Amino acid sequence: MADHTKDRIIVALDVPTAEEARMHIADLRDSVGAFKIGLQLFTVAGAGFVRETVKDGIKLFLDVKFHDIPVTVANASVEATRLGVWMFNIHAIGGSEMMSRTVESVKEVCEKENLRRPKIIGVTVLTSSNRVTLKQVGLEMNVADQVLNLANLSKSAGLDGVVASPNETEIIRKNVSRDDFLIVTPGVRLGNVENDDQKRVMTPGEAILGGADYLVIGRPILQAEDKLEAVRQIIENIRSESI
Ligand code: C5P
Repeated sequence: MADHTKDRIIVALDVPTAEEARMHIADLRDSVGAFKIGLQLFTVAGAGFVRETVKDGIKLFLDVKFHDIPVTVANASVEATRLGVWMFNIHAIGGSEMMSRTVESVKEVCEKENLRRPKIIGVTVLTSSNRVTLKQVGLEMNVADQVLNLANLSKSAGLDGVVASPNETEIIRKNVSRDDFLIVTPGVRLGNVENDDQKRVMTPGEAILGGADYLVIGRPILQAEDKLEAVRQIIENIRSESI
C-alpha cells in the first residue's frame, strides 16, 4: 500500500513576502502535501499569488477565516473557489446560516462553472483562547465543550471538517458522528524543538493517533537549519508513533 504520510503535512507559509514563500514552496513541494497561506501573506501578496501558486500545481489552504454576514461569507467563498484553492476555512462561530449558505453557494458555483469543490473547514476555538478568553466575550463554556459544540454545528451545516488543537481531536472523533469529518490540527512539535508560542503541544504522531487528518506546521520546518531533514523527522515521527 502506498504511504501517504507526507500528504498529511500542510506547511504554513507565515512569511512576509511572496518571494520567500516561493522559495519555501520550491524547496518543499515534493516532500509535503500542501501549503497554507494565512492573513499575513495573503494581505501582502493577495489573490495574484494564490492564482500563480495554484496554477503551478500546488495544493493551497487559504487560511483567512472568513467571518461576516452569511451573504458576504458565501460570496467570498465563491471567489476562493474560483481561485482554485484546495481548502479554505470560515469561523464556525459565525453560525449555522453563514456556514450552510457558504456550502450551498460553493456547490452551485462548482456545478455551474465546472470547478473543483474545495474542502470547507470550520474554525472552532483558536488555540490562543482559553476559558478566560471565552468568558471575556460572554461564553461561559469551557474550551472543550465549545469546540465540540462548534464542531457539531459545522458538521450539521455540511462543512467537511474543522480546525482544532491536538487536545481536542479525540473528543471530536468520539463525539462527532461522521467518519469522513476532517480534523486539521496546528500546534504540533517534535520533542526536540522549542515550543515557540504554542502553549499546549503534542508530537505529530500523537496528534495523528488522536484523530487528526492533517497537521499544519510552520516554524519547526521553515526555521529549521535543514528544512527537508525537519520534514523527514516529522514523517518518521508519524510513522513510528501513530502505527
Ligand atoms: O507554530 P507554527 O509555526 O507551527 O504555526 C503554524 C500555524 O499554526 C500558524 O499559521 C497558525 O495558523 C497556527 N497556530 C495556532 N496556534 C498557535 C500558533 C500557531 O493555531 N499558538
